[in-house]
Amino acid sequence: MELRSFVLCNETGDEVCISNYGARLLQWHTDVGHEDRNIILGYANLSDYLDDPFYHGAIAGPFANRIGGAEFTIDGKTYELQANEGRHHLHGGKDSISDMYWDIVAQEEQVLTLKCEVPDGFNGYPGGLHFWVTYHLNNDSSLDVDIKVTTEQATVIGPTTHPYFNLAGVGNDAEGHVLQIFADNYTPVDHQNIPTGEIADVSDTPFDFRQPRQLDSEREQLDHNFVMARPATESQAILISPDKKLQLHVSSAYPGLQVYTGEFLSGKFEPFGGICLEPQFYPNSPNEEAFPFFYTTPDEPFNMRISYKLVKNVEQNLDTSEEAESAGEDAGGE
Ligand code: BGC
Repeated sequence: MELRSFVLCNETGDEVCISNYGARLLQWHTDVGHEDRNIILGYANLSDYLDDPFYHGAIAGPFANRIGGAEFTIDGKTYELQANEGRHHLHGGKDSISDMYWDIVAQEEQVLTLKCEVPDGFNGYPGGLHFWVTYHLNNDSSLDVDIKVTTEQATVIGPTTHPYFNLAGVGNDAEGHVLQIFADNYTPVDHQNIPTGEIADVSDTPFDFRQPRQLDSEREQLDHNFVMARPATESQAILISPDKKLQLHVSSAYPGLQVYTGEFLSGKFEPFGGICLEPQFYPNSPNEEAFPFFYTTPDEPFNMRISYKLVKNVEQNLDTSEEAESAGEDAGGE
């Protein structure tokens, strides 16, 4: 199949670029005080995505993040997944849906729908699985990513979006972003990045982002899952550009959010050159009874919306008191 890219434009000057390879989000151009910024890190050449080890802009899955020991059990039957990170399974395994060509199902000026399918047993997953992803670029500078998956038998599904954001604009230093995460808890991991099963309080830890805080790449090597405290109708995390002129609000109905500050980027990319905000089930949740999770079955397809919304020129004082929040909303927040 031919490697292609598609551009969506809204009435307010945003442009997003999406590829049929991995249904990847390649670029998002937005106007910040008459300056055009592309806020998504990626390759200059489309063909470079074909050997990308970093999941730039990809839809990761069938189950994003890690499944410990690369196995899970459904109704007493254990399924062995492909182990692609030591003995564990990451982002659906090698050559998964992020490295496949997707079909274009529908294209309009502000909407693109892509589809792909994998057979039963693909990388160990019970299936067959049918994925649809629809990108909607709205006039309020939000991008909704709707993911639907149907299956022919009960299975484990939990895909996510994997863009690396640099709100300073790609080409500019990503140092100095401010992050706020509405999470009272996170899920600690062992030395192989597999959750210990504990749901820990962020208080008095480096994972307390309830008040907005500047990320320091020397200190903040974040690659952690946060427990979402707010419903999908509210912003669950906010990333703020180093110059404070641009905010990115993230929300979804997933119970967790992986925040990954890009420490493993290399080659054409600088470590910490972009920040991923990946709504998800907690890592390894199919194997941890205390972690929220639901199976996808032929009768209950998987449906999830992940929303990224840009808010501009809100020179908010980064105070999170209720007053400051409602002032932000009046200024065009939510
Ligand atoms: C994971 C990282 C991983 C990165 C790229 C993130 O979702 O949490 O550990 O290095 O994806 O694979």
